[in-house]
Amino acid sequence: MSLSISVFGLGYVGSVSAACFASMGHRVIGVDVSRAKVDMIESGRSPIIEARMNEMVAEANRACHLHATTDARTAVLESDVSFVCVGTPSLRNGKLDLSHIEKVASEIGTALKDKKSEHFFVLRSTVLPGTTESCVLPILERTSGRRAGSDFFVCYNPEFMREGSAVSDFLQPPYTILGSRDSAHLAPLRELYKSTPGEVFETSITVAEMVKYLSNAFHAVKVGFANEVGTLCKQLGVDAQAVTQIFTSDTRLNISPAYLSPGFAFGGSCLLESLLPSNAEHVERAVDAVMRTNKRKIAQLGLSFKAGTDDLRESPQVQLIKRLLGEGYEVKVWDRDVSLGRLAGSNRQYIEEVIPHIGSLLSADLEQVVTGSEVVILGNKSVDKNELSRYLRAHHIVIDLVNLDKARRPQFAGAYEGICW
Ligand SMILES: NC(=O)c1ccc[n+]([C@@H]2O[C@H](COP(=O)([O-])OP(=O)(O)OC[C@H]3O[C@@H](n4cnc5c(N)ncnc54)[C@H](O)[C@@H]3O)[C@@H](O)[C@H]2O)c1
Repeated sequence: MSLSISVFGLGYVGSVSAACFASMGHRVIGVDVSRAKVDMIESGRSPIIEARMNEMVAEANRACHLHATTDARTAVLESDVSFVCVGTPSLRNGKLDLSHIEKVASEIGTALKDKKSEHFFVLRSTVLPGTTESCVLPILERTSGRRAGSDFFVCYNPEFMREGSAVSDFLQPPYTILGSRDSAHLAPLRELYKSTPGEVFETSITVAEMVKYLSNAFHAVKVGFANEVGTLCKQLGVDAQAVTQIFTSDTRLNISPAYLSPGFAFGGSCLLESLLPSNAEHVERAVDAVMRTNKRKIAQLGLSFKAGTDDLRESPQVQLIKRLLGEGYEVKVWDRDVSLGRLAGSNRQYIEEVIPHIGSLLSADLEQVVTGSEVVILGNKSVDKNELSRYLRAHHIVIDLVNLDKARRPQFAGAYEGICW
């Protein structure tokens, strides 16, 4: 059965969702306040840099399965299900900014006033548990003048994609979580995901919201933990890779549900409180590694936190550059996937706020960036081994922050080191 779907927000989550739903044969209309993103979809181009997205959007456009508009009302009236994928950036006070979700809820609610057939509102953005029912649902009821659960239906369906492999993650998720007040409200979503691999969990809205939230936190715990372990290993002269390989092979006690049931305290340290400082400390370790070289000219290769994407928000690579500039280093930045001209919306705003003169640091010329430097920082996995090997000389010191596989490391006569391996 082919559904008619509107997708609000054509950022990373929304454009991948829209392209993937269209590739499954559904009729999809994307909605964004950004005219540029809408125009890109309409001309068959992906608004984000992400593996497989260019082909998917072009194909969906050719098949007339994917359109985009800035007109929320038309999109609601012409679809059965609206997926809301607008951003929920962190505010300075640490809370999530819900203003985009509130605005979209109010636009969809207003359009629902005039809609005769049933409509499903599905939130995909990451929110704190309780947000859908305490914030979004009342806005929909107020602006539509109608009742959730009888006139329209509200669901929460989180997204578990990773940037860089977003399309395959979307098509092969670990599981699908469908949150609603009543499982009868899930009929079109069940249909939509019936061929998607992985278990489908039908649950309450708050459980679905919480699972998404804690998944993000857990992945951060894992990264922080691995970095702490790596740092300790390095200090003790122990091979961090060998340690983690053996450690993670234990799927009974280590990589397993063991010790993951809420219960009584394990004593002393507070994990979540120590998580962010641990992550910030890791950026400082990179700064220390640069300082130890006693060199001044730095080439940072990779600005986004993941190769193959151009998402800079909350990127520790950006924080590292900011710190190095603050310490007076001469920094040049190369990233295959980031060009200031292409950046838009919150992504552009973020980088311009954190590093106001980023434009003058960024170059698309890898040779120039590397040959003009003394220290080369591998900030993500985007650089090509053979190309980089051509430009590296014996005087170069390479600091590999991402622990490239040995086979992917550049070949050259100078020093090559990591900060926690
Ligand atoms: N990026 C990820 O890997 C990822 C993964 C899973 C979940 N999430 C969550 O999904 C949500 C979206 O994240 P993202 O990275 O795709 O955000 P994003 O900033 O890339 O995209 C959000 C889009 O919404 C648009 N928008 C804002 N207000 C709008 C409005 N009123 N009407 C229509 N469009 C509007 C913006 O113009 C932008 O294009 C967030 O809550 C995020 O936490 C992100």
